[in-house]
Amino acid sequence: MKIITIVGARPQFIKAAAVTRAIQSFNKKHFVSSRSRIREILVHTGQHYDYLMNKVFFEELKLPKPNYHLGVGSGSHARQTGVMLERIEAVLQKEKPELVVVYGDTNSTLAGALAAAKLNIPVAHVEAGLRSFNRTMPEEINRLLTDHLSTLLFCPTAQAVQNLLKEGIKNGKNKIVKKVGDVMYDSILYYSEVAEKKGTILSDLNLCFSTPNSELKTQNYYLATLHRAENTDDPRRLKSILKALNEIGKNISVVLPLHPRTKKMIKVYFPLSEFKHILFIEPVSYLDMIQLEKNAKAILTDSGGVQKEAYWLKVPCFTLRDETEWMETIQSGWNVLVGTGMKKIVKEVSDLERRKRYPGREEIFGDGKASEKIVRILVGH
Ligand code: UD1
Ligand code: UDP
Repeated sequence: MKIITIVGARPQFIKAAAVTRAIQSFNKKHFVSSRSRIREILVHTGQHYDYLMNKVFFEELKLPKPNYHLGVGSGSHARQTGVMLERIEAVLQKEKPELVVVYGDTNSTLAGALAAAKLNIPVAHVEAGLRSFNRTMPEEINRLLTDHLSTLLFCPTAQAVQNLLKEGIKNGKNKIVKKVGDVMYDSILYYSEVAEKKGTILSDLNLCFSTPNSELKTQNYYLATLHRAENTDDPRRLKSILKALNEIGKNISVVLPLHPRTKKMIKVYFPLSEFKHILFIEPVSYLDMIQLEKNAKAILTDSGGVQKEAYWLKVPCFTLRDETEWMETIQSGWNVLVGTGMKKIVKEVSDLERRKRYPGREEIFGDGKASEKIVRILVGH
């Protein structure tokens, strides 16, 4: 069976690595029959290209080198998606796969799904059924269209299955809709211990210290991430969030691995030196990120993936948005939508101690075997 996996942006490398690992282990178990082996061809659109947004994940997660690198790079939505479409189509025509697998909700996801669907190649969407119900988000458009173009829809949660049902997409003759769990949960279970052993980021950033009896302790700090277009491209929102982080940073360190989009926009609008209580660092690798997340007092973020990781790692989370597609984490009381207003963010963080107890309902996102289930369904199909 020949499949083509299409990736391009940071979170997709992490998601695809989990499924690729499951494919490799399926192939090992089924080595006797070459017909049932899965041959995965990896296509990288080139949407993310900086070493710390791209290659570091291939190295750390042991993803195979892409068979095709399309070198699309940055651009407006139409240009970026259009160039991807054209280049993906050429690969699909040459390789003639039986199936195309896409992940998440980026422009690479939509381009992959659209190019395949137009060539009548079935599409499998991993992380199907997510909705923020905010169509001004480019990701919402990408998710909606990709789900409607897909034949196999792998949902991370029961809510995602319900969202699809409301749009008339259900398991049946023409579509396979399955709640398999979240492949990022598989990944964090797999890498969590490795991160603990390998990571040096806390000492690199002087966030840990030795006690008199040589015990290594971590300092109190908050971890923040920020990259959503609605926050970075609006100077008022961007300034308000940064001012809040700067204010919080006066008491306890705030570490912010800076997404290149955010770095670019801050440079356009105001000098970084205005926010001297924020510890700005370069984007970090996945293992370093897990270590930073695990040891943080709390996380402030507008990232989809980081909200879930905070939940799984039992670290309180404040989401710097007005809505989220991961409503389960909000309903559980563990994640709080704080929006982007400075006063509200600072106040909510100062009330952290009043946070409810950890709900302990990881099963919302499956049992850590989503990738295995996906591979079994792919083979069955
Ligand atoms: C993209 C996804 C978003 C996802 C995020 C993950 C879309 C529409 N958005 O957002 O859903 O959450 O990835 O991180 O697909 N840049 C660099 N180096 C890079 C990559 C980008 O400097 O390696 C800069 C460029 O100036 C570029 C900007 O970041 O214009 C935005 O990059 P882009 O890939 O368009 O969107 P992201 O904001 O990364
Ligand atoms: N991440 C990382 N290094 C960073 C920031 C994020 O490895 O400096 C990881 C994070 O742990 C999560 C994923 O990237 O697994 C989330 O990606 P991102 O926030 O870019 O996109 P989103 O999930 O919002 O689409």
